[in-house]
Amino acid sequence: MAIRLGDTVPNFTQASSQGDINFYEWAGDSWVVLFSHPKDYTPVCTTELGEVARLQPEFNKRNVKTLALSVDDTESHLGWIKDIEETQKLTLNYPILADGDRKVSDLYDMIHPNSLLNLTVRTVFIIDPNKKLRLTLTYPASTGRNFDEILRVINSLQLTDKYSVATPANWKDGQDCVIVPSIKDPKELQEKFPKGYIQVKPYLRLTPQPNK
Ligand code: BEZ
Repeated sequence: MAIRLGDTVPNFTQASSQGDINFYEWAGDSWVVLFSHPKDYTPVCTTELGEVARLQPEFNKRNVKTLALSVDDTESHLGWIKDIEETQKLTLNYPILADGDRKVSDLYDMIHPNSLLNLTVRTVFIIDPNKKLRLTLTYPASTGRNFDEILRVINSLQLTDKYSVATPANWKDGQDCVIVPSIKDPKELQEKFPKGYIQVKPYLRLTPQPNK
C-alpha cells in the first residue's frame, strides 16, 4: 500500500554507491529527500543527479540529506557517477541506492507499471527527522524535476514546524506567510507573531516571514 503523508516511513537496509545503508541509521536526525529515477546512463537522470549534487550546500543549510535510487546495481552506479561528474562538472557526494532486487522500490511504491514497466518513476519523498512522510510527488520519466521547488517546500515545512505559519500560493522565501487557522487566542497571536499581522478575513491572516 502506498505510504501517505503523515505516515512513518518504513526502514530498510540496501546497497548503495557508498556501501550498505540502513535508512534510519543513515538519516539520523536529518531531514531526507529520497528520490527515484528510472535508469542509469540516461540523459534526464544525469542532469537531475548533477543538480542535486550542485544544490548540496542548500540542502546542508536546511539539515537535509539526499538519497537517490534506481534499480541498477552498484557497479553500474559507480560507472555512471563518473559520467555525471564529467558532464555536470561536479563531485557527486551523496549515495545512490542500488535497488536491483526492487526491495525499496516496492516498499515505497516507486514502480508504476502502467507508466514504466519494471523501472522506477521519478518519485520524491521528503521525510522529517521523526521519519514522517511530509511530501510526495511523482513525475513521469520524460520530465526532469524542479529541485528549487523541493527546497521551497522544505523551507515551508520547516517554517510551519517552528513558527506555526503556512505559506500561500507561489510563496517565495522572504514573502508574507499565513497564520495557521488553529491559532485564535489573541495572547498567543501576540506572542507568536510579534511583527503583527493583517487580517484579510478571520481565516486569512498574513504575517511577515517570522525568521527574516
Ligand atoms: C532519462 O532519464 O532521460 C529518461 C529515462 C527513462 C525514460 C525517458 C527518459
